[in-house]
Amino acid sequence: MKSVAILGHGTVGSGVYEIIEQNNKYMLKTYDEFINVSHILVRNPENHKDIKSSLLTTDFDAILSSDCDIVIEAMGGIHPAYDYIRRSLEHRKHVITANKDLIAEHGSELLEIAYNYNVTLNYEAAVGGGIPVIKTIRESLSAHRLNSITGILNGTTNYILSKMHEENISYDEALKGAQEAGFAEMDPSADVLGFDAARKLSILTQLSTGKQLKVKDVLIEGITNLDDKDISTARKLGYKIKLISKLIRYEHCLHAFVKPAYVRSTSQLGLINNEYNTVVLDLGQIGQMTFSGKGAGKFPTGSAIYGDILDILLNDKHQTKKPLVPTKICHYAQGYNDWLVRLYSLNHPIDLEKVFKFFNQGNVQIEDFTDPHDLAFTIQGMSETNLIDSIKKLQNLNIISVSKYFMILE
Ligand code: HSE
Repeated sequence: MKSVAILGHGTVGSGVYEIIEQNNKYMLKTYDEFINVSHILVRNPENHKDIKSSLLTTDFDAILSSDCDIVIEAMGGIHPAYDYIRRSLEHRKHVITANKDLIAEHGSELLEIAYNYNVTLNYEAAVGGGIPVIKTIRESLSAHRLNSITGILNGTTNYILSKMHEENISYDEALKGAQEAGFAEMDPSADVLGFDAARKLSILTQLSTGKQLKVKDVLIEGITNLDDKDISTARKLGYKIKLISKLIRYEHCLHAFVKPAYVRSTSQLGLINNEYNTVVLDLGQIGQMTFSGKGAGKFPTGSAIYGDILDILLNDKHQTKKPLVPTKICHYAQGYNDWLVRLYSLNHPIDLEKVFKFFNQGNVQIEDFTDPHDLAFTIQGMSETNLIDSIKKLQNLNIISVSKYFMILE
């Protein structure tokens, strides 16, 4: 039997509590084991009348001095979560957290503390909700060299983009739906500006490469600048826009971004909709491996935490110490890619002939020029640096005023 204390009783905390309660009979029957919830830390016990009052506490120190074995941090945010996790580990309690902000920022340091105190810090729920990708990378795939990660790592933005694409509803309406379903962060700007996905990409990268990739090393662009024409151009071309997280491991550097990109509607990435996430790992020797599932919500996240409890309960296995290696970051994709480019001219109609003089390195196709001030075209086989260079020249010559571009992935 192991006793667990749950810090927080919001979407995640209540999900894991329910899953523990539902599964105890099965645990006894199957493993002759039992998970006892000893404490639930909340701010206002009177807001949680559905929980036995003897379980509720507002005092973290009471948990620290109790004989509970595992502390589950389901509060989110850096403070006081960091302090609670650190102190729990130093009191030789195993810790499980769903906190991607904290693991991306302080994971390496906290894992070292866990190692030094011979306890486990598990964080399966921090990436991909219910998809068991952390344990799989850490254990089953650890022998293989990672070449790239391609992911849809944020349920809220994927839900918003899916609803805008399929149901033609507005961004605001779709965001409200994601918030009501419990997918969005307390401050949804972390979702829609791309930071949540960047934190998850940083965690996956550091785990799979052993190299340091800070969130500030990831080029981040959220979904707030997308307009109706971006969505309708995608629809017309048989594409969807997805918020893609990508890590490419080049020989001498890492390149990482979170950006909206065009993917074919029927491709593997195009078929991941609503709150579903996906992680595609390219693992050299063994090729590509794809994991998909619900990336947000009470039960997917609760299920990942429950898996982390079983990991400790059944194996009681401790951390390995693996310090991260500093590495070089490159800011642009290397090699040649396909792009969807939007060019705008605020003052005069766009002169197509002048524009395409600067794009003669690639194979250009006009996709939408119904408005002479707003051109959408695709270009195949151009490097990102050449693309940026051409756009800058057009801006300097006042041929266009504003631009944006998306990578076409598959
Ligand atoms: N806000 C996050 C998302 C929750 O939408 O993916 C799961 O990490």
